[in-house]
Amino acid sequence: MANICVIGGAGYVGLTTGACFADLGNSVVCLDVNQEKIANLRRGVLPIYEPGLEEMVVRNQDAGRLRFTDDYADALADAEFAFIAVDTPSDLDGGADLLHLREAAASIARAMRRPLIIVNKSTVPVGAGDLVAGIVAQNRTVDVPFSVVSNPEFLREGTAIQDCLNPDRIILGASDRSAAERVAQLYQSLNAPILITDLHTAEMIKYASNSFLATKISFINEIAAICEKVGANVKEVSRGMGLDRRIGEAYLDAGLGWGGSCFPKDVRALEYMAAANGCHPQLLRAVMDINRDQRRRLVQRIREALGGSLDNRRVGVLGLSFKPNTDDMRDAPSLTVIRQLQNEGAIVTAFDPVAMRNAEKLLPKVKFGKTPYDVAHDADALTILTEWNEFKQLDLARVREIMARPIIVDGRNVYDPERMRTLGFTYISIGRLPVGVSSLEMATTP
Ligand SMILES: NC(=O)c1ccc[n+]([C@@H]2O[C@H](COP(=O)([O-])OP(=O)(O)OC[C@H]3O[C@@H](n4cnc5c(N)ncnc54)[C@H](O)[C@@H]3O)[C@@H](O)[C@H]2O)c1
Repeated sequence: MANICVIGGAGYVGLTTGACFADLGNSVVCLDVNQEKIANLRRGVLPIYEPGLEEMVVRNQDAGRLRFTDDYADALADAEFAFIAVDTPSDLDGGADLLHLREAAASIARAMRRPLIIVNKSTVPVGAGDLVAGIVAQNRTVDVPFSVVSNPEFLREGTAIQDCLNPDRIILGASDRSAAERVAQLYQSLNAPILITDLHTAEMIKYASNSFLATKISFINEIAAICEKVGANVKEVSRGMGLDRRIGEAYLDAGLGWGGSCFPKDVRALEYMAAANGCHPQLLRAVMDINRDQRRRLVQRIREALGGSLDNRRVGVLGLSFKPNTDDMRDAPSLTVIRQLQNEGAIVTAFDPVAMRNAEKLLPKVKFGKTPYDVAHDADALTILTEWNEFKQLDLARVREIMARPIIVDGRNVYDPERMRTLGFTYISIGRLPVGVSSLEMATTP
């Protein structure tokens, strides 16, 4: 059992990390500068939706293994390990904004009173671990020893707990190997492969991994565009490819592309870091371009399906979060698509099982429905932007009946085109020939 403090402990990564370490039997203090989140967490109210997390937080709070504070001195009083999980968003140039990381490092330095291993989980450019070490060394008020270890996080929102407790690997980077080995002990019971390397390499592994996954998605989206032209079915193409163990089926679904709080900023930050170091990251640039195009092309499909203009057309949107099982709206493709639809005069209504509360603040001109059927009612077209399970089970005959025009533009390939044809829809999806319209006409549109 170890004493662990998690800085940024009310965020997605920090809260999940804190709850999981507590569940493994450690004594954990989650610290956050957001006092409202801390006050709510003390009452068992979570700032995010993540399956299973609320139960885990409450259970460990009740057992006395997990508590919340906004006071660094309190959080670090007994801590042997301080995990940093603060946000590292894009700055205006596309690089990573390290302001919160710097602030966290300075606050740790001022409050630490005993030897400490500082473990960075935030996704950061190469060199950020050295930066943290420098800030801590400069701002320490008591001369206690410390080490910095990089431990990039690979959890996915929507399956965060499962990912945290069953990781594919643990990456640890440090100049002080014994510090990395002590962190490795915290993960021992998970039986995951542990790779200990140097700080810079560990930081690079995270950016390279996320950029590779984004590349896989952009790759299949490029293949999807070709499939549409030549009359192939991208869903089956990706299945056929994915069965090859060298390729694998994960991250090979064609659709509206990637979004969320990680891929967009991490691919941009790697591209920025590469260019700043004299490299020419042409593949990363193409990966981002293809992703931007997916959103533009979806709006184009809706416009074409509605006869060339969106003005005064009623478009119903199903799904707002950047992926299912999360309420996270950060860089969700729905934001770009809906704003573009509205710019062209469309009247947009939308439904999402959990993200509407967050979406309301970002999309003030959208009317939100209580059910998918509210959104379908009288719509000239329906578009699916997030593949929530509940959309797979819709009563499509009812949807067909209540829509003004039976047009579905599916950005996530949720339905079977032949079934949609039988039900009488015009159904346009990604990387598959449209049904219920002149296929030739749709297939030849640029
Ligand atoms: N969200 C994910 O799925 C995910 C997955 C892997 C890695 N990451 C990385 O983990 C990091 C955190 O991401 P997140 O999604 O959890 O962010 P988040 O915005 O949900 O949480 C960050 C938290 O840090 C707090 N904070 C900011 N400055 C602070 C300070 N000086 N002291 C204490 N707390 C402070 C904020 O109040 C916030 O609660 C990022 O670098 C991200 O790239 C995120």
